This record gives sequence, structure tokens and C-alpha cells, in this order.
Amino acid sequence: MTRAFTHVPVLEAEVLAAFRSVAPGVIIDATLGGAGHASALLAMRDDVAILGIDRDPIARQAATERLTPFGDRARVVAGTFSNLSAFVLNESEWIAGREIVGVFADLGVSSPQLDDEARGFSFRADAPLDMRMDSTSGITAAEYIASVELDELRTLLREHGEDKFAHAIAKSILARQPQTTSELVTAVEVVVPMAARRRGNVATRAFQALRVAINEEVRELDEVLSGAVQVLAVGGVLAVISYHSGEDRATKEFLKLQATGGCTCPVILGCVCGAVATMTVRKGGAIVASEDELARNPRARSARMRIGVKVAS
Ligand SMILES: C[S@@+](CC[C@H](N)C(=O)[O-])C[C@H]1O[C@@H](n2cnc3c(N)ncnc32)[C@H](O)[C@@H]1O
Repeated sequence: MTRAFTHVPVLEAEVLAAFRSVAPGVIIDATLGGAGHASALLAMRDDVAILGIDRDPIARQAATERLTPFGDRARVVAGTFSNLSAFVLNESEWIAGREIVGVFADLGVSSPQLDDEARGFSFRADAPLDMRMDSTSGITAAEYIASVELDELRTLLREHGEDKFAHAIAKSILARQPQTTSELVTAVEVVVPMAARRRGNVATRAFQALRVAINEEVRELDEVLSGAVQVLAVGGVLAVISYHSGEDRATKEFLKLQATGGCTCPVILGCVCGAVATMTVRKGGAIVASEDELARNPRARSARMRIGVKVAS
């Protein structure tokens, strides 16, 4: 029996507002998931089409069903979003000369990916330690642990907030070689003293760090950001929702670089280096969920959306 794909889109009203005034054309939803945002965008604007990308075959199947009522205005494609230009090239017949007026990325995993015990993303249920968003390719988290060096694992854990215990956790994981989610939890628990544990599960950060490594999320984000600037038409909107500080920092720094063109000339001199800004940042800070949304959807708590508008090629 196939389980229902239930994912409540985060910051939906804010995403719709971000794309409300784009020119007619194609919006790329780089993280289609169950097509919650995509279907809302298509319902809001009958002069836009959506090219939806997802690496997860289960998500693509759910999205295809949900987008059926929109007919040829929605196109679902398989793959990772790191090479947006290739998707645009491959789909040029469907795009048919229309401009790319938006790129949207709602990063991380969907609720069904987290909730399906068999996929090994969560400590809430015991399951094989897999964590691949696309379970048809790449190596599992258990296989990664079997081949990773201590230094690399320690650095990964540090980058995900395990400053003090990164070394001990990395050593424990390598010594125990966990094959299941509960074995991973134990490998973390045995080296983090009760008094030092933070709110939530003691292994939360280790799970997140491994998931990011297995799915190459840092490289994927870097590449989708630069790909977006290449494929967007002038006036097109880039909106990115992040769920942890590393992703949000990378997005913020990327937008800042596009907005300055890399210029570091002293303000009093004005720009003398000839740098050209390719984007403007639509709002100073990140957009976060309202109290009302948080009451309905606690998973929106860590969401932060940043928006840029392309101003030059
Ligand atoms: C948070 S969910 C998106 C939910 C979607 N906005 C909705 O309303 O249903 C993120 C989705 O992006 C996909 N994804 C994450 N990283 C990806 C990548 N690098 N390339 C393609 N898809 C990716 C995941 O498989 C997941 O389905």
C-alpha cells in the first residue's frame, strides 16, 4: 500500500507574495516535493508554468498526481538541482521560448521523507541508516561511516554545532559502525554526558550532519544559487527557504555578493573597481513564519526565506 504524501508547505503566503508580480513565464521549483508550493503558485497565476525538479522518485510521483489538473503548465523532472542550466536546456522544447521568471528552493527534506521510518532520516523510529533522498543512487549513511576518516567526520559534526563533543562523537561512531538509526543514537548518547545535553534528542545534530553529507547538500546549494543567476531573466525572482544556519548563511552571503558584484571599494570613494551587481536583495533580513503558522505547523520554526531579484546579466 502506498502511504499518502502529506507535507504542509512552509511560508506559503510569503512564497506566493514573492512571486506574485513576476512577468509571465516559467518558474523553476527546484525542490518540488509534494508540489504544495507549486500547485499554489499555479493556482495564483494562470500565466506562469512550473518546471519542477526533485531527486526523490516518491515525491515526483506524488507531485505528478497533484499537478495533473494543471495539464501542460506543469512539468516534473528527475534529478538534482545542482545543474539548473542543463534542465533548462533539456526542457527547451517545453519552455518554448518563455523566460525563466522565478527560481524557488525549499531546502532539506519533506515531512514524508522524515516520517517514513524505512528511510532512516529520523531517530524517532528504528530503521537501517540510509538517509538518501534518492534511494536509487549514492551511498547510504552506514556506508559513508564505513569509509569516512575521523578528521572528516569530526569537522562535519563541528560544522553542525557539535563543538565540544565532535571528537568524542566521531570516535564513538567510527568505533561502533552503526547500521541502524537507534545504533547511531546510542553511539552519540554514550559520549555526551546527561548534563551537557541540549533540548531535543542528543543525536539531532549528528543526524543532520550525516544527512547533509550523504546528499551533498552544501555543494548542491552552492550550485543551485549560481545556476539561478545564470538562468533567470532580468526581473526574475530567486527565493530560498533554509532550515539550518549553514544553509541560511550561505544564501545570505551569496545574495550579498550578487548585490555588490564583489565590490569592496571604500564607501566614501564610491565603486572604482567596476564591479557589476547582478541581483538586489528584496528585504534586509530573513522572512520567518508567523506565530499563526507556527501554531499550525511546528516544522516551520527553523524556516528562513531570503529573496533576490535579478537586475543584470
Ligand atoms: C522541503 S521539501 C519541498 C516541499 C515542497 N516545497 C512542497 O510544497 O511540497 C524538499 C524537497 O526537495 C528535494 N531535494 C532536496 N535536495 C535536492 C536536490 N539537491 N536536488 C533535487 N531535489 C532535492 C527533496 O527530495 C524534497 O522532496
